[in-house]
Amino acid sequence: MLTGKIAVVTGSAIGIGRGLCLALAQQGARVAALDIDGENNTQTARLVRDAGGECLPVACDVGDRHQVRQAMDLVLSRFTRIDLLVNNAAFWDNSSLREGTYDSQTAQFEQAISSCTLGSFNCSSAVAPALRAAGGGNIVNLITEHVKEGHYLTGRRGLGYDCAKFAQWRLTAVLAAELKPDNIRVNGLCFGATDTPMLRGEAPDLAAIAMKPEDLAQAVLNVVAHGPNGPTGETYLFGTSGTQREESVRAIAALAPVG
Ligand SMILES: NC(=O)c1ccc[n+]([C@@H]2O[C@H](COP(=O)([O-])OP(=O)(O)OC[C@H]3O[C@@H](n4cnc5c(N)ncnc54)[C@H](O)[C@@H]3O)[C@@H](O)[C@H]2O)c1
Repeated sequence: MLTGKIAVVTGSAIGIGRGLCLALAQQGARVAALDIDGENNTQTARLVRDAGGECLPVACDVGDRHQVRQAMDLVLSRFTRIDLLVNNAAFWDNSSLREGTYDSQTAQFEQAISSCTLGSFNCSSAVAPALRAAGGGNIVNLITEHVKEGHYLTGRRGLGYDCAKFAQWRLTAVLAAELKPDNIRVNGLCFGATDTPMLRGEAPDLAAIAMKPEDLAQAVLNVVAHGPNGPTGETYLFGTSGTQREESVRAIAALAPVG
C-alpha cells in the first residue's frame, strides 16, 4: 500500500509511535522516526530494520522549531520526498495547581503544549511544502477522546495535555481547510486507552482491555487508504476508554474505505 512512500512519525521511540513505524514500514514505506529520546528511538529503527524495513531515526524535540527544520531537512536529503506525517508525540503532564510548585506546574504545562501543540504545528509547517511538491499527501494527528463531548478530562491531572489536545484538534480542522487545494488531507484520531508506557504510567488498570499500538497503526493506515479524494478535516472517535479491545478493533476496521 505504501511502497515508494516516505512517512515521518513523531514520538517514535516507544508506544504507539514505535508501532506506527513498524506498521508503515511493513506496508512498504520508508520511515523517518523523530523523537526526543534518542536511545529508544535507535531501538525503534533497529526493530524496523530487523523486520526488513528502512527507518531513519532522528533525535528531535518537535517543540523546538529549529530542531524540526533541521530534522526535516535531513529527512528530505535522505529520502527526497515526504508523503505522510503522523503527529504522535505528546507528553502527559501533571500541572495540577493542587500539587507541586510554580516551577513544576509551569514546566510540566509547557512540556505538554510544546510536544503536542507546537510539535504538531512545527512538523506540519515543515512538511507542507514537501507534501505539496509530491502532489499531495496526508497528515494524521493522534489526538485523544478527551476533546469530544462526554469524554472531557475535567478533574484529572494532565491539564497541559488536555489544552494541547484541544489545540491539536482545532489545528486539524484549520489545516485541513488550508491545505485542501494542495490535495493534502489532514485528519485526526480521537481514541481512548491504548497499552503504552503513557497509559501504564497514568491508568494501569485500563491496560488489560486497552487497544495495542498496532491497532492505532491500522487506524492510520485505514484513514490514509481512502486516497487523495478521501475525507479531510475529520476527527474520528473510536475505542473510548472502557471499551473492550475487540470492539475497538471493529471500529477501526470501519474507518477503512468500503469495498
Ligand atoms: N496511550 C493512550 O492511552 C492514549 C490515548 C489517547 C491518545 N493517545 C495519544 O497517542 C499518542 C502516543 O501516545 P503513547 O501512549 O504512545 O505515548 P508515550 O508516552 O508512550 O510515547 C510518547 C512518545 O513521544 C515522545 N515525545 C514526547 N515529547 C516529545 C518531544 N517534545 N519531541 C519529540 N518526541 C517527544 C516521547 O519520548 C515518547 O517516545 C500521543 O499523542 C497520545 O496523546 C494515547
